[in-house]
Amino acid sequence: MIKIAVLVSGSGSNLQALIDANLSGQIVGVISNKPEAYALERAQRAGIQTAVIEHKQYPNREAFDDVMHQQLLDWGVDLVVLAGFMRILSAKFVSAWEGKMINIHPSLLPQYKGMHTHQRVLKTGDLYHGCTVHYVTAELDAGQALAQGVLKVSYHDTTETLALRVHELEHLIYPQVVEWICNQTIQHTSNGVLYRGKVIKAPVQFCKI
Ligand code: GRF
Repeated sequence: MIKIAVLVSGSGSNLQALIDANLSGQIVGVISNKPEAYALERAQRAGIQTAVIEHKQYPNREAFDDVMHQQLLDWGVDLVVLAGFMRILSAKFVSAWEGKMINIHPSLLPQYKGMHTHQRVLKTGDLYHGCTVHYVTAELDAGQALAQGVLKVSYHDTTETLALRVHELEHLIYPQVVEWICNQTIQHTSNGVLYRGKVIKAPVQFCKI
């Protein structure tokens, strides 16, 4: 059974969706860089062990990442799932977990890497918005996309309504992608990313609301 660690910094609604999904893998631990993250309570309620590793207590990014890396090894983790984890990871850490670490980002990548995606979508006047699950690589929000959820932006939308609507999509597609990795529907190989045994270059799922 695939052992999963979820890395969080905040509310953890995606963690909750993963807990509720009854994955065929097991969430063996949750790491937060913030002691006050509500995600920790969600984990504890579900009987999942937690570790708080505060980035502020380490002299640099590498030292912090080394401690996280060791914790993941101690838990015997196969898959690292970033769910609202608000730290940029060092190249060394990313390369150690290459092909074994995924993230969910609130935009239709490659559009709007980085922060404030909902504001930027509204400012540009885009018709569509959504979220992307992707492998994590050293370049921010640039690893291969595995799945996207798409929504149509309405003229009633504000940054708040978009945030809510995108979250709803995230809770649909993130557990699905994690399950695909657990049951090997998605595989990261030296020949590329396979979906149902075939190499893919583009996200495999478009879930639209
Ligand atoms: C999500 O919007 C996700 O796209 C981004 O961080 C947010 C996490 O939300 N990476 P939550 O903590 O899972 O509720």
